[in-house]
Amino acid sequence: MKIRKAVIPAAGLGTRFLPLSKSVPKELLPLLDKPIIQYAVEDAVACGIELVIIVTSREKMAIENYFSRNMALEHILEQKGKGILSDKLRHISEMADFRFVSQKEMLGLGHAVLSTKEMVGDEPFAVILPDDIFQQREQVLQRMIEISEQYQGSVVALKTVDSSETERWGVAKVNRITGSRYKIEDLVEKPHPSVAPSNLAVMGRYVLMPEIFSALEATSPGWGGEIQLTDGLKSLLKRQGVYGYQIEGEYYDTGTIQGWIQTTVELAMKHPEYSPALRERLSLFKGDLPQI
Ligand code: UTP
Repeated sequence: MKIRKAVIPAAGLGTRFLPLSKSVPKELLPLLDKPIIQYAVEDAVACGIELVIIVTSREKMAIENYFSRNMALEHILEQKGKGILSDKLRHISEMADFRFVSQKEMLGLGHAVLSTKEMVGDEPFAVILPDDIFQQREQVLQRMIEISEQYQGSVVALKTVDSSETERWGVAKVNRITGSRYKIEDLVEKPHPSVAPSNLAVMGRYVLMPEIFSALEATSPGWGGEIQLTDGLKSLLKRQGVYGYQIEGEYYDTGTIQGWIQTTVELAMKHPEYSPALRERLSLFKGDLPQI
């Protein structure tokens, strides 16, 4: 069945960006010339997804505003002869059909996904975590959709991580099917390296069968007192096949200040417009950097 809908959970508290995230949703921080969350939307759209469901909260209305049309602003820009900018604004709201679901309490990623149950309905769908950005962009999701169609099951993105870092992610126990494809045998949320079943960590891309909703409804709060998507998947895989697609290439975690800075600098260094001036500026500082 064609994947028509993508869920982008963006209601989290973003504690690692406090105090900034008290008033600016971390998903709206810029990566070069657009907000982080726009990369997630673009990846979905590039895979032929038409309906994008964003999970937000009352405190994060700015996300809904960003993807909604602002006729007054478009009109002012046109009057000022800035029609190109006005078109650019309209394009953002026309990229997909956007829906917004408010997560009343921040009870975790699994709970955020569960809150889209009515809107998703009885069909497979994609989940895209905006924090995670892959060098291969939409290709990752496209491959996962193909695997889901072939095996008629849910698919998670997997990436090899340093064995000492397994406590940062959900980690999979796997059976390799072929090449980058795996059958998932078990999942463990944030395991200590001594008990991690592998060093294949679950990254922020999923294609999920609708049965995930009943699995999440039956899931009790786990790690951190939150309803974990990993735990929902762990119970789902007892009933139906869950598969893994191993990602190659660069992975950027924009969910921490350090990661966001690194991603910004790396992307800017590779960008044809921003790279020359940035490289020139950085080359000035051989020794001491000026303090701000
Ligand atoms: P994270 O744990 O990475 O984000 O959740 P966070 O909770 O916002 O950030 P920290 O850990 O406090 O710094 C992964 C994704 O799931 C969403 C987040 O917005 C993020 O995109 N999320 C998380 C929800 O939508 N609801 C939740 O209750 C928790």
